[in-house]
Amino acid sequence: MHHDLVIKDARVVTSGGVSNCDIGVLQGRIASLGTGLGGAEIIDAKGLIAMPGGIDSHVHISQPSGPGIEMADDFASATTAAACGGNTTIMPFCLPEDGQTLRDAVTAYRAKADGQCLIDVSFHLIVKSVDPTTLGQDLPSLIAQGMTSFKVFMTYQGMRLTDGEILQVMDVAREHGALTMVHAENEDAIEFLRDKAERDGRIQPVHHARTRPIPVEREATHRATTLAEIAGVPVMIVHVSNGAALNEIERAKARGVRVFAETCPQYITLTADDLDRAGFEGAKWVCSPPPRDTSEQAAIWAGIERGAFDVFSSDHCPFRFADTAGKDAPGARASFRNIPNGIPGVETRLPILFSEGVAKGRVSLETFAALTATNHARIYGLQQKGAIAVGKDADIVLWDPLVSKKITQDALHHGSDYTPWEGFEVTGWPVRSILRGKTVMLDGAPVGQRDGTHVARQSLL
Ligand code: URP
Ligand code: ZN
Ligand code: ZN
Repeated sequence: MHHDLVIKDARVVTSGGVSNCDIGVLQGRIASLGTGLGGAEIIDAKGLIAMPGGIDSHVHISQPSGPGIEMADDFASATTAAACGGNTTIMPFCLPEDGQTLRDAVTAYRAKADGQCLIDVSFHLIVKSVDPTTLGQDLPSLIAQGMTSFKVFMTYQGMRLTDGEILQVMDVAREHGALTMVHAENEDAIEFLRDKAERDGRIQPVHHARTRPIPVEREATHRATTLAEIAGVPVMIVHVSNGAALNEIERAKARGVRVFAETCPQYITLTADDLDRAGFEGAKWVCSPPPRDTSEQAAIWAGIERGAFDVFSSDHCPFRFADTAGKDAPGARASFRNIPNGIPGVETRLPILFSEGVAKGRVSLETFAALTATNHARIYGLQQKGAIAVGKDADIVLWDPLVSKKITQDALHHGSDYTPWEGFEVTGWPVRSILRGKTVMLDGAPVGQRDGTHVARQSLL
């Protein structure tokens, strides 16, 4: 067979193992895996590793985050940064503005993304209200259109749902075959601790972490998994930050509840001390749940190593630091309560896990591929994606496993004006990202057309 493109001599990571071979691409799909393949375009990939293109199933882009607050990325900059960090698909959220229907929110997000995306995009939904239109009309119709997963929040004023409301949402998920993702932190407990901290004058960024301690997440994780058990649905617990919350997930699994678990780079590399830097600097690391300490990092690593986590995502939620529309929002210096939550990370997620996991011998190449692409595709229903296998989309990323560099803001492509990992040393970096057979990043620079499309998903539940 004559291919449009052949990637020659890479170490190819498939779910069946790692082998040296050629990858033949025809009409945007992987057509052959073998040796001596011929094609119109040849990429010499000797010395490189061919991975399935990264799928980041937890990113926030252009999401309303309070009056006057703006996220630092639009779909053009976010997908550029994602491609440069070794991704070929991202999964952002559609959050309705107050008074907007979920259906109208989806239309608005799709319009924002249209024609802007360097890589593919597949939207999740956020359910922040359980009115009859949302539950009875919009959710069933949007699930049928391929948006088969939605996030609910147990925290954040204006977003959190009560237990009864979460059960109602899970019931719709059960009936229509969708997956509920839960942000598990106990808002009442946070509010109690936050009020107390403010009364005592503890208003600096580090108190964001101190008023969201581990029990806040552990209790909510127990409740979320129990609600899923009662509703009879699978559930994804997103951004797990510590060992006690992970234990709740494993206890639920042992009871037979179908629970998936996600963790993120911040929980294996950052700590609450990062929020305790001089002045307002710590605001750069304010995210929820907050980073913990080195013993919790070890607990998360142990979970990764024993297979307790299904996906490793970024929770990319970028704000600019030196910006009153970002971290320096009105009131943010007067109380950590007003600092927008979230950190940028879509471009650094994969190099951090490659370096800390693969290069340091903690995870195999196959596990890396599973945690960063294959499991995201399987769990969220991206059937065409997530693996180097005949018939799949030719979403392939070539990695140089030997290059060593420091992460620095000036080399990144996101819209934020800082990276939480400034100066962090990594070994291994993606050097070429290929989307459906077309190169979209080469040697650290975006190239090619903005041909990223919205990918509808199947319910695989
Ligand atoms: O602090 C965070 N994680 N912000 C993003 C929104 C969320 O909760 O995932
Ligand atoms: Zn969240
Ligand atoms: Zn998030």
